[in-house]
Amino acid sequence: MPDLDTIVSLAKRRGFIFPGSEIYGGLAGTWDYGPLGVALKNNLKNLWWRMFVDGREDIYGIDAAILMNAKVWKASGHVSGFSDPLVECGKCKKSFRADQVGSKCPECNGKLSEVQQFNMMFKTIVGAAEDESAVSYLRPETAGGIFVNFKNIIDSFHPELPFGVAQIGKAFRNEIAPRDFVFRAREFEQMEVEYFVRSGEWEKYFEEWRRETLRYIEAVGIDKSMVHELEVPDGERAHYSRRTIDFEFDFPFGRKELYGLAYRGDFDLSAHEGASGADLRYTDPEKKDKFIPHVIEPSLGVDRTILAILCSAYAEDELGGEKRVLLKLKPAIAPIKVAIFPLVKNKPNLVTKAREIYSALKKNIGAVAFDDNGNVGKRYRRQDEIGTPWCVTVDYQTLEDGTVTIRDRDTGKQERHKVAELELYFSKKLT
Ligand code: GAP
Repeated sequence: MPDLDTIVSLAKRRGFIFPGSEIYGGLAGTWDYGPLGVALKNNLKNLWWRMFVDGREDIYGIDAAILMNAKVWKASGHVSGFSDPLVECGKCKKSFRADQVGSKCPECNGKLSEVQQFNMMFKTIVGAAEDESAVSYLRPETAGGIFVNFKNIIDSFHPELPFGVAQIGKAFRNEIAPRDFVFRAREFEQMEVEYFVRSGEWEKYFEEWRRETLRYIEAVGIDKSMVHELEVPDGERAHYSRRTIDFEFDFPFGRKELYGLAYRGDFDLSAHEGASGADLRYTDPEKKDKFIPHVIEPSLGVDRTILAILCSAYAEDELGGEKRVLLKLKPAIAPIKVAIFPLVKNKPNLVTKAREIYSALKKNIGAVAFDDNGNVGKRYRRQDEIGTPWCVTVDYQTLEDGTVTIRDRDTGKQERHKVAELELYFSKKLT
């Protein structure tokens, strides 16, 4: 298992993740994704969307606004209850989460204040008037946008229970102590499904979503032996939850929550019905009775997924007598699928042929790189470190018989293949 500094430094050096606003000294709890990071992120979000929206008949995707009417968060209980316990040091004035420190300040040993509840929602002002009625919040979970669109989905699509509504998007929490790289950020992304069921069937669908969550964990290449399920005990669950399982991961800084699976009962729809006056009941198509469905919620953090993938994929080994670092990313989520090299840079006919192959593959596969910098061994190492599964080298034999070498990232083995067959070869490997 790599330590966190190793992952953070690789992520920065190779253009996956940079500290937010870095040239101004940063902004705690914010991270910017570079070209490889955004590619990795898009791949795992697309995979989630394919598995849980496009791949099913019973789930509807939405993309709701991040800014919502403040009444949403009053009804959902976030204005009154979405807080963490805060203590402040009387000497150095730094703030800490009370559950993460002892009785003295960890920085200067000063005396800590009494515990206060600190609401984690970011407040903002909508419009020109700066009074209380203009206050809004950046959403602390994407789920809110799903519950307020429940009626729209029912009215437009007339789905029968059980059905789900899915959303991927940013969420914001003013964490008291953002830490551990992208694990605890103030701005992050979630992939959530609210799966609406009849109350008597919640246990069956809770189990289904437990399996589906594990299926996703496997599909993105998170090491399953590092994932552990934790039944969250009474008194420790979020205010809306009647049952929660946390999927924890062995991060370099300890075993911590990767994803959550919650049974939210009818808490949210009932609360929004009560506060908005809208009829949020479902009408049974046969019996014609009306009722508020219950909901199962698998909630997956995009950024924690990336961190767990990087920790699972990171490896160091020796190949051909040389030490190397590699990311054993699954081809489906690797930011670059294939890198094309001319054997040497100063032979125009090799470079032209390599460019030709590169353009053709790029048209079809998209995530293809071209590299002619340094010797081939160095180029292999560079691609290994960012998880590119295959490297194609165009050499003198290519000009004679139309074949190239394909080199496998994990084994280092090379095989010759016909240029004409490359597209089919990689397409098959990527499906
Ligand atoms: N809608 C339910 C919900 O938001 P949560 O357990 O508070 O539940 C769900 O968050 C997931 O969102 C977490 O399991 C984690 O993956 C991600 N997450 C939560 N807070 C985060 C933070 N500060 N930074 C990064 N990811 C976070």
